[in-house]
Amino acid sequence: MIEFKVNGKEVSVDVPDDMPILWVLRDVLGMTGTKFGCGIGQCGACTIHVGGEARRGCLTQASEIAGHDVTTIEGIGATPAGKAVQAAWLNLEVVQCGYCQSGQIMSASALLKTTPAPSDSDIDAAMTGNICRCGTYLRIRDAIKEAAKSVAAK
Ligand code: FES
Ligand code: FES
Repeated sequence: MIEFKVNGKEVSVDVPDDMPILWVLRDVLGMTGTKFGCGIGQCGACTIHVGGEARRGCLTQASEIAGHDVTTIEGIGATPAGKAVQAAWLNLEVVQCGYCQSGQIMSASALLKTTPAPSDSDIDAAMTGNICRCGTYLRIRDAIKEAAKSVAAK
């Protein structure tokens, strides 16, 4: 059994040690907000937080998250940065098809935790691993700046 916290709740799962956390979340816990894109760490659709840091769920084995706090798109809105990012995403209508956006929001929220006033280059560096086939990159950048201002004003 592997025990960890997901969005503040203790969970215990009976899975192989090397099962990617992406599959634990989606197939074992039924949390489908975290998306499968490439499965090889190239697209960012599966981004989650482990101990507050952005990680690719497809490359993170279940055994690695034992005893850790995992946050997913279903829970990120309960954090100040995540709440501000989600509000800015809605306000600027960032989303097109939506498939990549869970991962985008998770990476953006992790960025704002470590870099409260990110420059364009900070944003580009943090978001470079999150691919959007719909090309929403410019709106993402604007929304991150709006979210940063919102967090700073509180
Ligand atoms: S599914 Fe994990 S990076 Fe693409
Ligand atoms: S919104 Fe469609 S892939 Fe990003």
